[in-house]
Amino acid sequence: MARKYMMAGNWKMNKTIGEAVVLAQDISNQYEDSWLKNCDVVVCPPFVDLKPVKTVFEFDRIEIGVGAQNVHWAESGAYTGEISVPMLKETGCGWCIIGHSERREMFGETNEGVNKKAKALLAAKINPIICVGESLAIRDEGTTLDFVCAQVKAAFAGIEPDEAKDCVIAYEPIWAIGTGRTATPEQAQEVCAAIRSTIADMYGAQVAEEMRVLYGGSMNPGNVSLLIAEPDIDGGLIGGAALKKESFVQLIEACK
Ligand code: PGA
Repeated sequence: MARKYMMAGNWKMNKTIGEAVVLAQDISNQYEDSWLKNCDVVVCPPFVDLKPVKTVFEFDRIEIGVGAQNVHWAESGAYTGEISVPMLKETGCGWCIIGHSERREMFGETNEGVNKKAKALLAAKINPIICVGESLAIRDEGTTLDFVCAQVKAAFAGIEPDEAKDCVIAYEPIWAIGTGRTATPEQAQEVCAAIRSTIADMYGAQVAEEMRVLYGGSMNPGNVSLLIAEPDIDGGLIGGAALKKESFVQLIEACK
C-alpha cells in the first residue's frame, strides 16, 4: 500500500490570533484540490489559534487539518497552564505534536510523558505526531539509531496495533532544527528506515508499511524533493518554512 505524504506546519510560538487567521486565509486562497491527492496537509498553530484557524478552513470547506503542539494526558484537574484532550477535541483539532525536542529540552517532557499523551490522544481519536531525534553529541558518538529507536519504543509502550497505525512519527535531528543545517537525504533515510523497522518489530510488517515517518529540521523548498524521494520519508514537519504561505505551499506542491 502506497503511503500518502503528509506536510505538517509547526508554527511553534508564532502568530497571534489575527496573524494566524491571515496566514490560514492566505493558504486557503492558494488551495487546490490536487494538493490532497497525494498529501495530507496539517497546520499546528498555538493553542489560542486552533479554533480560529479551524474556522477559516471550515468556512472555506477545505480539508486542511489542524493540530496542537502539546497536550496534557489528564482529562481535567489542577494542572495550571495545561490543556486537556477534551479541550483540543472541541476546537476541531485532529492532530497533536508530542515529544518535540524543544519541549523535551526546555519543558522537561519525558519518554514516559510522551507515551501517556499518545494514549490519551488515541483514546479521543486525535492522531499523535510523535517527535524523536538525536542531539549532535549523540550523532557524533555514533549511537543515533539506538537512541532514536529507544525513543520510539518508549513512546509506543502498551499501545495496541490498531491504535499505533493512527500515529505519525517525525524524525527531527535536534542539530538540524532551526539551524539551516539539514540532514542529508541519506542520513534522514537511514534513521527513518530504522524507525520503520522498530515499528515492524513491535507491530508487524503491515503496520510498519502503513505508518508515516516524516522528516523535520530545516526542510525547505530547496531540499524537500530529495528528502521525500527517499523510500522511508513520507513528508515533513516544518517549522520556519511553514510560517510563510509561499514556502509552505511550495512544500505541499512538491508532494504532487
Ligand atoms: P525547522 O523546525 O523547520 O524550523 O527546522 C522544524 C521543527 O522543529 O518541527
